[in-house]
Amino acid sequence: MVFSKFIIYIVKQEICTVKVNLANNPYEVRVGSHILYSIGEELRKLQIKAGTRILVVSNPDVATPYSEIFIKSLSNAGYISKLLVINAGEEQKTTQSISLIHNASYEHQLERNSLIIALGGGVIGDMAGFAAATWLRGIPFIQVPTTLLAMVDASVGGKTGVNHPNGKNLIGAFHQPKLVLIDIDTLKTLPRREFSAGMAEVIKYGVIGDSGLFQKLEETKNLSDFELLGYETILEIIKKSVKAKAYIVEKDEKENGIRALLNYGHTFGHVIENLTGYGKWLHGEAVSIGMVAVGQLSIEKGLWSKQDASRQKELLLKADLPVKWPKLDHDSVIRSLQGDKKVKEGKLRFVLPKAIGEVFLSSKVEIREINNLMNKLEGI
Ligand code: NAD
Ligand code: GLY
Repeated sequence: MVFSKFIIYIVKQEICTVKVNLANNPYEVRVGSHILYSIGEELRKLQIKAGTRILVVSNPDVATPYSEIFIKSLSNAGYISKLLVINAGEEQKTTQSISLIHNASYEHQLERNSLIIALGGGVIGDMAGFAAATWLRGIPFIQVPTTLLAMVDASVGGKTGVNHPNGKNLIGAFHQPKLVLIDIDTLKTLPRREFSAGMAEVIKYGVIGDSGLFQKLEETKNLSDFELLGYETILEIIKKSVKAKAYIVEKDEKENGIRALLNYGHTFGHVIENLTGYGKWLHGEAVSIGMVAVGQLSIEKGLWSKQDASRQKELLLKADLPVKWPKLDHDSVIRSLQGDKKVKEGKLRFVLPKAIGEVFLSSKVEIREINNLMNKLEGI
């Protein structure tokens, strides 16, 4: 009995590491089980000195189950930490929330070598990262993502920011974390709808560049339930996704080229989020609908097969994701597309699929085609 407990302990301490090899800001993404509470030791490994002041930013859903032991681990390692709990949700991703983090940074006397830790989903990560990027012109920060979406996407790559009333993520900065610490066990408390939303980004990696991952997802019976998927499968999915993201970010940290491919499905996704009011659709859900929409655009242009499009749709449906285009005013869609960050020199830019595992960036999409597409999508 004692022996088997010992074995379980050893297995749970195994940590997989994916490196993000950026020339100026290299860091590790560490993935494992029950590692949230070794945050103090992880910081010591990074040579962060005892006595360093740390602001942990979280929200009630995450802080309630996890923050007490998290903060204790920091104190045990000699850090002076303070917890700031702010309301989460996409509608909170505003400059007002950044002010709250800056105020707490002031009260907790954060200095240049102090640290901000984001303990939460992508909203907390984007906001805490942006506050760190702007406090004293930039202090270090660490991502501890607790949603599947933030684990596979938002926590890696250094995009931080908040929304502007006229568009998503329009205010932001590139600021790489010093470490990303992923504890898969936190997914046990994540609502199923949120888990599915994260799976949209995983499926995205399959379509944009990893047909092996796509096939693995096709072979997996269930894509919407953490318990049914099982620890080993989730670990593999997270590792493959983080590697896919790291590969692209290493090649193009500031999105001057291929990083734009990560926005597959996001151009229409952002329009949906923007026009329906942040919060109605989860980010991953909007991306799912966006992937189907841009797939249809590629079919209309004769660039993608209906067969691959239906493989994509099947996978999204298996993850319990929405695929149907919502009713939206066409002129508002066009206006929103024109205000999107992906407009370059006045031209609409889309990441279009060619095959499972292959996409490309196209500036050859005309407004007329978007109008036709919406008529088509509304009829599907
Ligand atoms: P989120 O941060 O809003 O989290 C979703 C919900 O789950 C919230 O209500 C949160 O309180 C709750 N939650 C989080 N972890 C939990 C846990 N372990 N147990 C119980 N509840 C938990 O949403 P998200 O999907 O993680 O992130 C979406 C955001 O990420 C969007 O704002 C999007 O723009 C951004 N994003 C950023 C990048 C990037 O590169 N920076 C990439 C993709 C998405
Ligand atoms: N999620 C898109 C990016 O990180 O570039």
